[in-house]
Amino acid sequence: MLDYIKLLLKSKWSVKNIILLILTVSVCVFIHVLIMHDLVKFVDSVSSAISFNNRQIEKQEIFKSPKYILLWYGSALVSPSEGNAVLKHLHCPVTDCIFTTNKHLLGNISNFNAIVFNENFLKSKHVIKPKVRLNSQIYTLNTVESAHNYPACELFLDDFFNWTFTYRLASDIVWSYITVTDVEGHIIAPSKSVVWRHSSAPVKPEIRSILAGKTKAAAWLVSNCNADSLRDEYVTRLQEHLFHFSLAIDIYGSCTGTKCTRGDCEEMVKEQYYFYMAFENSFAEDYVTEKVLHGYNNYAVPIVYGGANYSRFLPPGSYINAREMHPYRLALKIRQVISNRNLFMSYFTWTNLYKVTTSEVKVQHPLCHFCEALHSNRVQKAPAMKNFRFWWNGLNGMKWCLSNEYWSERNKMIIDSKDVYPLY
Ligand SMILES: *[C@@H]1O[C@H](CO)[C@@H](O)[C@H](O)[C@H]1NC(C)=O
Ligand SMILES: *[C@@H]1O[C@H](CO)[C@@H](O)[C@H](O)[C@H]1NC(C)=O
Ligand SMILES: *[C@@H]1O[C@H](CO)[C@@H](O)[C@H](O)[C@H]1NC(C)=O
Repeated sequence: MLDYIKLLLKSKWSVKNIILLILTVSVCVFIHVLIMHDLVKFVDSVSSAISFNNRQIEKQEIFKSPKYILLWYGSALVSPSEGNAVLKHLHCPVTDCIFTTNKHLLGNISNFNAIVFNENFLKSKHVIKPKVRLNSQIYTLNTVESAHNYPACELFLDDFFNWTFTYRLASDIVWSYITVTDVEGHIIAPSKSVVWRHSSAPVKPEIRSILAGKTKAAAWLVSNCNADSLRDEYVTRLQEHLFHFSLAIDIYGSCTGTKCTRGDCEEMVKEQYYFYMAFENSFAEDYVTEKVLHGYNNYAVPIVYGGANYSRFLPPGSYINAREMHPYRLALKIRQVISNRNLFMSYFTWTNLYKVTTSEVKVQHPLCHFCEALHSNRVQKAPAMKNFRFWWNGLNGMKWCLSNEYWSERNKMIIDSKDVYPLY
């Protein structure tokens, strides 16, 4: 093209040549504009490709990079509480979560992916909160203590926790004391929508022979002697009625100072007792503790007493719920079962279909679920629970926040006995 322009310039300045020059220049400009347009488009698409890659990287980070979790008030549930040894120990599929109680580990608290608060955070009046909070941080309540013993009282707790990680079945991640699996190991309960099967097959011979050795009515291992659930009062009434039938609940532990035979409570319950008193210390929704396992593990029928809807937790026909019965009717029932071998056996037909275990054996541990959740896209949208106190305390729970000025032990008793067993 340059040669062509030179040739044009060398030639004489005729009108014809000038027109030719103008034409040439405009063609050049036109071509230039075309090229630039394409170039801009090209650059655009390159940069969008780059930013698309960035988004990809961010997305992958959610799933790949380690998550740092600060245990704000320490934790009895995460042990050891430093690093990820606890997850490795539990054989979690995802172990890329670093726990710590050291607030300064990452320099700034806002660098933690999650902060875990335990029940002490609910209870203390002069609670210390993190000073800075990023919206991306997942504030988690983690506790297996009953809401009754650790009510949520402070107003700020509404709209504070992004996740709940508790025994409550409606928690974001559930940490249940017990798990029911079928014999193949699939988790069946606890669940709000459990469908139980029934077995009419006979109880296995090895279980029958354990059951055949039982001689005593019921055992109760207890260390907290005046629990708010008034279980002690209930048991006293029950004892009165059992006494008519020459039966008794044998109470072991620090309340009575009675020690288990040969110091082995589990073996004693297994060898001697028809029933085991699985009475919770307080009533709270879904609060079913390992106490029922003392019964199940030792082939003693658990007599349960607590705030849960037990049909969501335990196989039907495997337990007796004292809260549905006047102490007199329960005494009658105990006598009836003890004096009828087949009736007693029928409380164990569930063993043909199910196993009741802790949540830590054979099934994946709740801490594994927590670490997985932190690596999932659940962290992207996790609005805090707005009505947390109501959710946690339940319909009648705010009274547990009142100070003793308004709330003496005496009127607590009167109100509760009516709530607890109307027939009483
Ligand atoms: C910690 O990080 C937050 C938010 O990123 C920032 O506002 C704050 O100043 C930092 N604190 C310190 C002590 O660096
Ligand atoms: C207990 O739970 C079962 C199963 O979810 C439900 O069908 C039943 O209505 C519940 N009972 C009460 C009293 O809430
Ligand atoms: C966690 O809750 C806080 C408080 O309501 C909120 O500002 C934040 O956006 C929530 N985090 C996520 C990831 O949704």
